[in-house]
Amino acid sequence: MAKRQSHFVCQECGAVHSRWQGKCEGCGSWNTLVEEASAEDIMTKATGKASRTKGKRLSLSRLDEPIDEAPRILSGIGEFDRVTGGGLVPGSAVLIGGDPGIGKSTLLLQTAAALSRAGHHVVYVTGEEATAQVQLRARRLGADTAPVSLAAETSVETILETLAAGPAPALVVIDSIQTLHTSIAEAAPGTVTQVRASAQALIRYAKLSGAVVILVGHVTKDGQLAGPRVVEHMVDAVLTFDGDPSHAFRLLRGVKNRFGPTDELGVFEMTGGGLAEVVNPSELFLGERDVSSPGAAVFAGMEGTRPLLVEVQALVAPSRLGTPRRAVIGWDSARLSMVLAVLEARCGLVLSSHDIYLAVAGGMRIAEPAADLAVAAALISSRAGVALPGDLVYFGEISLSGRVRAVPHSTGRLKEAAKLGFTGAIVPPQAGAEGGGARVSEVALLADLVHRIAPNGFTDERSKPPSGDD
Ligand code: TYD
Ligand code: MG
Repeated sequence: MAKRQSHFVCQECGAVHSRWQGKCEGCGSWNTLVEEASAEDIMTKATGKASRTKGKRLSLSRLDEPIDEAPRILSGIGEFDRVTGGGLVPGSAVLIGGDPGIGKSTLLLQTAAALSRAGHHVVYVTGEEATAQVQLRARRLGADTAPVSLAAETSVETILETLAAGPAPALVVIDSIQTLHTSIAEAAPGTVTQVRASAQALIRYAKLSGAVVILVGHVTKDGQLAGPRVVEHMVDAVLTFDGDPSHAFRLLRGVKNRFGPTDELGVFEMTGGGLAEVVNPSELFLGERDVSSPGAAVFAGMEGTRPLLVEVQALVAPSRLGTPRRAVIGWDSARLSMVLAVLEARCGLVLSSHDIYLAVAGGMRIAEPAADLAVAAALISSRAGVALPGDLVYFGEISLSGRVRAVPHSTGRLKEAAKLGFTGAIVPPQAGAEGGGARVSEVALLADLVHRIAPNGFTDERSKPPSGDD
């Protein structure tokens, strides 16, 4: 009998240690190590014999050999199919993460219903709710007549046995991975060890059977997929479902995808009857715009291959505090500090005695540097107390030298702006940008934009007004 070996696994980062210690050397967190049986022990337990068998010889293949690729499975929910990179790939495992209550179960139940209506065999396993709760939700979604097979179960062995006994499913939804347990791993349910072993078993099932397995994963307070980042490495695609709970918009994004791009965005709206696709999100994000107030600029952005217009709002107000406030929602605060520094150093616009609030409307998050120019325009407009023209969009990256730099996809951005009735655009200098109907006006320096928005300088002069000989 082989000597039983165990090791200690960090429940935060998955680092393996040979002995117990208070602090994980991998991620520095305390009290996160949990004893775990070694992989060999697990194998022995699973197969009933030691894994010391001789390997067999493989026949190696070439890269250009023909592949018998099964077609992707399209749900017919356009926003979902876009984010998966053109449909689900048979035999793949997908992890979908999001805050509790954001709508993961709703999205997956709607997807399951759509696929089953299209003739695919779909199994929906819930470990969190009773079947009656899922049935009630299905009724609310108008999906109760869809031929989805439903089960409430948390044992991986029972789930796999059930799947093996019935007709081969095209899609298996597991809601959620954290509730599962398997007898292979000796640890409490919900620990990294259990979650990893359960995920491993289900992913192996996906590869062997050709079914798509979608795992729901919870997100912890700090926005990580709970506990095991290890599951992220094991699956083929990781999607996140998020949104501002106070808004109805829900955004589905790809974080990792072995079969498609990861920068695509799917936009949904949570309604009384479930999630509705938002085919033209720009219209939605610009819906309640107030064009007469200072501090609002429309950014012509790109999300993956799709242009998206959003409103950037800034409020610049004199501060009573020694250290003025900087609050940012939907954008990177380090990037805001950079734009402020450039405004101060290159344009003479000093904002160090002002509180600054910046928000992206509609609960959207922007990651593109191309938003710099729109942010700067909103800040200047609020500081000057001058509303920006309501029919203009902005995009462009700002460099530390105060120059406005070109960004990709100008044509797509301008076309979207023209489509939504914007007649002009303030853009970086770039040869051959097609206006698509919008009047294009180039700015090379951020200082030019400051002068354009506030030609008379700023009240309570701290910055030097432009010299008046023009
Ligand atoms: P749910 O899918 O249960 O979230 P998750 O699985 O991510 O925890 O959705 C929960 C919220 O969605 C709940 O607060 C109610 C709301 N909701 C609607 O507004 N309309 C609907 O049709 C459904 C089914 C849910
Ligand atoms: Mg749920």
